[in-house]
Amino acid sequence: MAKATRPGDSGFDALLERLRPECDRIIAQYEHKRSALLPIMHLFQEHEGFVSPEAMAAAARMLDLTPAEVESTVSFYTLLYRKPVGRYMLQVCRGLSCVLNGADEFMAHCRTRLGIGHLETTDDGTFSYEEVECLAACDRAPCMQVNLEFFYDLTPERFDQMLDQMRNGVFEVPPLAQTRRPERTWLESPQAEIATGRRTRGAERVPDPDDPGGIGDRSGLIMLDRILARDQAFRGRTRERLVREDPQALERVVED
Ligand code: FES
Repeated sequence: MAKATRPGDSGFDALLERLRPECDRIIAQYEHKRSALLPIMHLFQEHEGFVSPEAMAAAARMLDLTPAEVESTVSFYTLLYRKPVGRYMLQVCRGLSCVLNGADEFMAHCRTRLGIGHLETTDDGTFSYEEVECLAACDRAPCMQVNLEFFYDLTPERFDQMLDQMRNGVFEVPPLAQTRRPERTWLESPQAEIATGRRTRGAERVPDPDDPGGIGDRSGLIMLDRILARDQAFRGRTRERLVREDPQALERVVED
């Protein structure tokens, strides 16, 4: 595994130096250099396998942006991975059209075959799995992206075939670079957050202190709570993750 890069680390500095001409070329294409943020973040992701904090800091310096401006843009897109991920990043659409065409069953199959849940990585660091919002391919539902390449009209059989090809190194999409070992889960202290009942500090000017002011907080647990509380149809999908992380949580939600 390649050595991790940290601020001031010669590994990242060397990468930055190597990519600097390409960054300059990208920046020169835009009237306003801040417009180059997304392509530059994709460039770093291509080489690091994710968008590291060092890459975001370097982009802020190059583009005269604040770190907050960079992070708020990067965190908006599921196309950019803010944590190290597996060599194959599997992002399955959970939007309405896909659900109407069997995405719930398809996602359950994916999770079973991978042995991981939403926002998790297999222990060998090969696969990361995420359920994402509409991928804008609704006419070919259900669909997913593998390392950002689209796959349409999916079935469990097709998914199994794709997994076999990835495991055997013959899949049509090449694996991602992996400069840091991914953690098993992208969540932060999920047990503690569920156990205390308080999920986040919440956003300013939002009446509910646990409301992040958007869809999904850093842990994803606020959205999970909303789904459990308001949409019975999604219970089967979230039960697996809840039971694994906190066996008593589901009972408490059902009792409530
Ligand atoms: S709902 Fe899945 S692509 Fe739009």
